[in-house]
Amino acid sequence: MTEFSTIYKLSVIAVLFLVQAAAGHSSCPVMECWYPVEKGRGGGLASAANQVPALLFIKTEEQQHDSVNTASESDYSFFITDPSASLCHRALNPPKGSIKKPHCELNRIQPQPSSLQWVAPLTESEKSPLYLGAQWYAATIHGLDKEMSVTTVIRSPLEADKHNVILSVTTKTVYVTARLGEPAMLDCSYWVDPSSPLHDAGFSVEWRYQFRGNGHLVLGYDGKADRLSDIGEKKATLDFEGLHQNRNASLILTETRVKQSGTYICSVHVPYLLAQVALELEIVEPPSVSVLPSPLPLIVPGQSVTFHCEASGFAPLSLDFRWELTDSEGNVRSLGSGSVTGHREGTDGTFSQTSKLQLDSAKLEQGRGGELSCVTVHPGGTQRTSVSLNVIGFSTPSIEDSMAMVGVALVLYGLIKFVSWTFSGSGDEESDDKKKN
Ligand SMILES: *[C@@H]1O[C@H](CO)[C@@H](O)[C@H](O)[C@H]1NC(C)=O
Repeated sequence: MTEFSTIYKLSVIAVLFLVQAAAGHSSCPVMECWYPVEKGRGGGLASAANQVPALLFIKTEEQQHDSVNTASESDYSFFITDPSASLCHRALNPPKGSIKKPHCELNRIQPQPSSLQWVAPLTESEKSPLYLGAQWYAATIHGLDKEMSVTTVIRSPLEADKHNVILSVTTKTVYVTARLGEPAMLDCSYWVDPSSPLHDAGFSVEWRYQFRGNGHLVLGYDGKADRLSDIGEKKATLDFEGLHQNRNASLILTETRVKQSGTYICSVHVPYLLAQVALELEIVEPPSVSVLPSPLPLIVPGQSVTFHCEASGFAPLSLDFRWELTDSEGNVRSLGSGSVTGHREGTDGTFSQTSKLQLDSAKLEQGRGGELSCVTVHPGGTQRTSVSLNVIGFSTPSIEDSMAMVGVALVLYGLIKFVSWTFSGSGDEESDDKKKN
């Protein structure tokens, strides 16, 4: 009985430990943000703004903010309550003293209706104008190591010094790579404060694509009417069930093309408010590599042979060539990058490029052979494509070779002499007999 109670007590302690550890993990950060403040109020240019550091003290519950103002060392401190704990992700909360810090920007925003076709229905009936009468902010935070990005919309009621997260949009795939033709998933999820009147007032999701100043709509979805916009890409979709049940607004590209590399912006709208995060998609397709001529002709010493290393069907356009010669003992000698041609672009947007190598076979070990390799270095991986070389050794023989040849010649001469002597010996006898007859 006593043993049992000891085990029981120990397990209770263990559970308590675990709970504390878990709580420790989700500790919320104090974040440093850039916050634009108008320069010298009352004088100077009205539009000029200074970026000043502001401190964001984040907690998941309002009561956790310990008697406000004691900790406010900065001129600009915001005590933010985020029940969704989106801002408490470990990528936003580096260990104390670490050099790398999340990047955060805080801005004042003005709620307003949107005229976008798939968003406009949200504000048809003005539902919460009173609720909108507050100070509004948006904080965009990029976590460490491209692990996550989040944008939150924060409401600060005019009558109280508190800041509540109302809407958050998060991505956990800030940088996505995909092979050509394969599906890609661009993560995006959102959260709306359940106690806000905006919570059940409908939502819209919009995905836009942006590349070098050009952009287009990938997908627009009116969640209130459950209607997808007519314009947009065909091979892009959402998990509509996951969207309505778990606020999973991830974009699914069913079959990726090279031209889909670029920036994707996930915007979630609720009436009068919007939050968005940006992601990067890169289609990374390694090259198919072959070394020509194939099959390899026999190389005659003194002859110079041109080799081609052809890399095709790759993306992005970032490829390095390296030629290497491996001798029979396994020693590797670099032959440089060869002369690389300009790239060609295929109809599918992939690239091709060739490197030409002039190989002077006098440099090769004769008769021993070796291996010639073309090494291609690409974001999709490093590949080595090899051909074996065989050099026939017969011109300009070395002294050792000459001596050996003389030796062989002597032996051969002796052999021939011996054989012909044996045969001609008997022949002579025959002729002698004939003479006698
Ligand atoms: C969101 O939906 C996508 C596509 O169905 C899925 O792959 C992903 O796991 C979902 N994310 C979460 C957090 O459920």
